[in-house]
Amino acid sequence: MMIRVLVAYGSERGGTAEIAEWIGAALIESGLDPDVRPAGSVMALDGYDAVVLGGALYAARWHRDARRFVRRFAGGLASRPLWLFSSGPLDATAGEGDLEPVRGVAKAARKAGARGHATFGGRLAPDAEGFLASAVAKKSSGDYRDREQVRAWAAGIGGELRRAAGRVRRH
Ligand SMILES: Cc1cc2nc3c(=O)[nH]c(=O)nc-3n(C[C@H](O)[C@H](O)[C@H](O)COP(=O)(O)O)c2cc1C
Repeated sequence: MMIRVLVAYGSERGGTAEIAEWIGAALIESGLDPDVRPAGSVMALDGYDAVVLGGALYAARWHRDARRFVRRFAGGLASRPLWLFSSGPLDATAGEGDLEPVRGVAKAARKAGARGHATFGGRLAPDAEGFLASAVAKKSSGDYRDREQVRAWAAGIGGELRRAAGRVRRH
């Protein structure tokens, strides 16, 4: 029986969506069966053994679709292994050590009983469109996402889920 993992994400400009794809690829390497989807398109958690939920950070808040996902599936998340991630910092800090989740994400993690959270670097194009985004891009732009960091984090999740499944099967 394959362990089926939902990898859901809230992303405005595609950077977090791609991190979710990297997580999916790493979970496949770990022998799991991931399903990578925009958080807003998920209708039910039936059939998923575990969930990884991520969101881009905008103005120190998680992307709306990720916040809504936690509210919509509060019951289903409480009964499944859950990991959260954020993507945001437009500098090297996410690679230098564990960054604490922003306040709202920390609260969501507590409420939903998440087993872990990671903050990954973000990406912003220098010519990003939009009033706020272009102002932010003037000060900081670039791609600070580290695929190896993402892969290692997801491999840890894969290992944990496989060990848990092994324990269940042996009993
Ligand atoms: C208007 C604006 C506000 C942002 N605010 C934050 C923030 O509060 N914290 C943070 O870490 N990153 C912040 N970022 C950086 C984004 O999180 C980063 O660009 C991220 O990769 C966006 O993900 P997406 O491409 O999936 O939308 C901000 C970016 C923009 C354009």
